[in-house]
Amino acid sequence: MILKINQRNYHLTDIAVRTACALLVIYCLLPWRFASHYKYLHGHEIRKELVEHVTSNISMQRMQACDYNDIIANNEFTYNLEYNSRVLHGDDILTGGEYFPNDCSSSFSTAIIVPYRKREEQLHAFLIYMHNYLRKQRIHYRIFLIEQYDQKPFNRAKLFNIGSIIAAEMEFPCLILHDVDLLPMNLGQIYACTQKPRHMCSALDIFRFTLPYRGLFGGVVAIRTQQYRFINGMSNLFEGWGGEDDDFYNRLCSHKIDICRFGPIYSKYTMIRHKPEEKNENRLELLRNGFKRFLTDGLNSLTYKEKERRIHSLFTHILVET
Ligand code: UDP
Ligand code: BGC
Ligand code: MN
Repeated sequence: MILKINQRNYHLTDIAVRTACALLVIYCLLPWRFASHYKYLHGHEIRKELVEHVTSNISMQRMQACDYNDIIANNEFTYNLEYNSRVLHGDDILTGGEYFPNDCSSSFSTAIIVPYRKREEQLHAFLIYMHNYLRKQRIHYRIFLIEQYDQKPFNRAKLFNIGSIIAAEMEFPCLILHDVDLLPMNLGQIYACTQKPRHMCSALDIFRFTLPYRGLFGGVVAIRTQQYRFINGMSNLFEGWGGEDDDFYNRLCSHKIDICRFGPIYSKYTMIRHKPEEKNENRLELLRNGFKRFLTDGLNSLTYKEKERRIHSLFTHILVET
């Protein structure tokens, strides 16, 4: 009996040692897959990296420029009950879900583009929280909800392409591509574009506030409209879950455009929990040969039909057939 227990213990130890060795080998061979420590901008570097650019309708404002340094320095924790329960001072928001401060001139105009289908509860929570959060940042922004109105598999990247065209028509110089279920927890993650495209949700609660891999460029990203157009936007071919954000990252790399992130204390996000979507079985194949199509699949091959445009009080709703 004693011998058996010893044998079993020995066996378990053996498995543990072998597993640890295997993980060590994988880690050494593929260090870029793991990003427990990633390169990031420190608090004092953030302000000067933000690109000042506003739409012409607010560029005539002749007030003192808004101050962003205190917002970044304080990095207030905002994910509280008050911000989540209802829209505070809703009268300040213009129809279509647009806002700019009226006691100082904002330095940034940002289009927040949200791809969407059948996530009503998440949308409700998103709109309440984000309007409370974003107005505190003293930026000029407008929320665009791009809803896929057909029954085809969900095409997140294509919806971003459509949103980028509409935002560009309205002259927005900065795009934030935003999942509907992600909420920033601290105020220092300013919703403006940096010189380099920025991955914003690099400390996400479902990943235990760490970055799973350095090339992760999904969830919430900020990119200048010009840069998005320069790389031909995102692929239109990823249907269903996964891969489209990795392809987007590859596009940036192929154009030698580096990305950036803010430090983890600025980049904490929480995801509203939901059931996983069906994976796109084709995604790895599409990703592998995506580089052949960067110049031909994207904004320049985009086709869609705008079914309707509704100007709601908290967002601009674009219904499209993809
Ligand atoms: N989405 C949606 N309806 C869907 C699938 C996806 O609105 O049926 C949008 C939504 O904005 C969501 C994003 O696409 O946050 C990313 O999808 P999902 O949350 O399933 O991916 P995850 O990042 O959680 O793996
Ligand atoms: C998928 C991405 C996804 C990431 C994190 C990757 O395997 O290809 O689309 O964003 O996992 O969930
Ligand atoms: Mn999600």
